Amino acid sequence: MSNTAPGSDLPILLDAAKVKARIVELAAAISRDYQGRTPHLVGVLKGAWVFMADLVRQISVSCTVDFLSIQSYGAGTVSSGEVKITKDLDLSIEGRHVLVVEDILDTGRTFSYLKEVLGAHDPASLKLVALLDKRSRRVIPVAADYVGFEIPDVFVVGYGLDFDQKYRNLTDVRYIPSPGVLPFLDTPAA
Ligand code: IMP
Ligand code: MG
Repeated sequence: MSNTAPGSDLPILLDAAKVKARIVELAAAISRDYQGRTPHLVGVLKGAWVFMADLVRQISVSCTVDFLSIQSYGAGTVSSGEVKITKDLDLSIEGRHVLVVEDILDTGRTFSYLKEVLGAHDPASLKLVALLDKRSRRVIPVAADYVGFEIPDVFVVGYGLDFDQKYRNLTDVRYIPSPGVLPFLDTPAA
């Protein structure tokens, strides 16, 4: 059910039921592929936390979780081009089958950076599941191993994704048709 939080008047790209159904499929594929192994899911904060919470509860093999935090965007809709880790992993990934969980794959900068940084810690394998994929925006040629939905080049919010730290609590994935004209751009994040 949709809530009435600020932003719930934005147009819907993917409603909650559609997202939920796709996550069941993704989790089935992951459970099949990792049969007999214990994948280590690494969620990229903050955008992926809602997706990860739903995904992990549909996975039927034993798994472990950890989180890291990445900063790749300023308070806007355009990538700064810079990526840095602002919260590191708690658990060792050496010898683990790591599955990075991302909300959205956009330019590919974040994942290509993570591949390099996490890959240096000798995981047994390193894969990516992204709920959304804006393939047309790719700057660095990386691909997700599991993709929920390929979406057009629009700025999306809700279901964990933010604009200026807001709208993460919307239940559906919505999009901002034209950020320049919306009044909330002048409102500082609370
Ligand atoms: P990349 O490094 O350009 O691939 O960007 C990945 C990150 O940018 C995602 O994990 C999001 O945090 C953020 N991002 C990219 N596009 C959107 C969007 O449309 N809405 C909200 N966040 C986005
Ligand atoms: Mg993110």
